Amino acid sequence: MKFQLNTTTDFTESDLVILPVFKSDDDLKFTSVWTKELKAFFGELKLTKGFKASAGETVLFNSIEGHNLLALGLGDKKSFKAETLRREMAKLTTAYQSKATSLTLNIDALKTGGADATVNAIVEGMELAAYKFDKYLSNKSKATLKKVSLDTKEKGAALKKLQAVVDQTLIVTESIAVARDFVNSPPNDLHSESYSKAVKKDVAKIKGVTFKAHGKKELQKMGAGLFLSVNAGSAFDPQMVHLTYTPKKVTKKTKHIALVGKGLTFDTGGYSLKPGGSMVNMKFDMAGSSTMYAAFRAAALLELPVKVTCVLGMTDNAVNEHATMPDSIVTGRSGKTVEILNTDAEGRLVLADCLDYTCDLKPDAIIDAATLTGACLVAVGSETAAVLGNDDKLIGSLLKSAKKTDEYMWQLPIIPEFHEDMKSNIADLKNIGGSRFGGTAKAAAFLENFIKDDISWAHLDIAGIGDSQGHLPYCPKKGASGLVIRTLVDYLRNA
Ligand code: BES
Ligand code: ZN
Ligand code: ZN
Repeated sequence: MKFQLNTTTDFTESDLVILPVFKSDDDLKFTSVWTKELKAFFGELKLTKGFKASAGETVLFNSIEGHNLLALGLGDKKSFKAETLRREMAKLTTAYQSKATSLTLNIDALKTGGADATVNAIVEGMELAAYKFDKYLSNKSKATLKKVSLDTKEKGAALKKLQAVVDQTLIVTESIAVARDFVNSPPNDLHSESYSKAVKKDVAKIKGVTFKAHGKKELQKMGAGLFLSVNAGSAFDPQMVHLTYTPKKVTKKTKHIALVGKGLTFDTGGYSLKPGGSMVNMKFDMAGSSTMYAAFRAAALLELPVKVTCVLGMTDNAVNEHATMPDSIVTGRSGKTVEILNTDAEGRLVLADCLDYTCDLKPDAIIDAATLTGACLVAVGSETAAVLGNDDKLIGSLLKSAKKTDEYMWQLPIIPEFHEDMKSNIADLKNIGGSRFGGTAKAAAFLENFIKDDISWAHLDIAGIGDSQGHLPYCPKKGASGLVIRTLVDYLRNA
């Protein structure tokens, strides 16, 4: 979609004009784009009689001149938020994507903090809702909605700034679409080798970015036995992808943030095989890596003044005669030994070696994201990301960014008892805890063993939130949500 900022509202410029209305007690509060004549005309129309301007309520009508007008209820102005606008614009996009070609909206009455936040929410809501995963459909339904006019009184520098907000938001929503495409891709097409290649191709055109991929040989050389144990039953070469974005100007003050992601292109569970019903959709077990890649990609395209490293652990967890057997004891890159009691707790093994590798790069902070535990859905629900780590300040910054971008994130504790539970009698660690309780935090406790030199670290378990979030109008009914990326980009902007 093309978003165009205009300084006047002209009802003839689009085939659908959105006319926002707030509600105040039981009265309608028409925004300034409604002329006196239009209000009177609207009031006389029979179909508008029950219209209360509740959030999401719409009435489509024709003006005397024949324009298609849509009265859009936005609820009480006092409780109007960016998220309301994001959701309502998403709903409109879904409803009119193949019915209208162009749409006009005056944004001046829609302040949700500032004009920036308003424009950001509109572009996000519309672009995220317009996403379709139709690569594998023979008959693709074509969207007709191509142009959106955002009208405003703003002029000069303020208008320029709004244009920058449009451009920057489009970088983020495009990156979210890239992540969704990766996650939604089937495992027969997107496996470690093709995934790594696709990332290489995608970054090739981004300034300031370098790409490296360590395959089986390099992983063997660096002693990444935990990662390799997960790949042992795979038909594909494991890939530890290492990306770096260096901003144009680097000073002593430039922060270096590392993003690490679990990239299990499919998780069968290995010898600890998942039951059929739980295995379906495990192509999405790479959402952590796609989330981190998208945030990395957006940071580079936005030319943020922060150095960003991205390390993605790619493999599937498959079964053949070489696959790792439960009871195996494996040594990781750090030298620590792990008793593998359940081959379905594989994400932590891949991440362990990736985290150890990343610590050697000496970043100021490491954030990892993973669809790590089913227990996360039990703990915080499928609509919330869990955050854990060793630095409350870093966790606080992530929670703040989540709040600012209207994404749900909640902190869980890592207590010494959880560390105790992850110790093995015959190896340094075991890969599952002794009980089914606290699974998300125990997995995080396991990961903490691979954080060196007191580096600040936060772990995001996105097992629930990474997948379908059909309750949100700007997420597909089914498939990768693309959530958490906006939180991470906001964090990187402020790092
Ligand atoms: N990829 C799964 C976690 C998962 C499960 C994500 C369901 C989304 C939905 C992970 O590799 C896994 O299988 N974890 C096990 C750990 C257990 C064996 C300790 C789990 O959660 O059951
Ligand atoms: Zn698993
Ligand atoms: Zn997994």
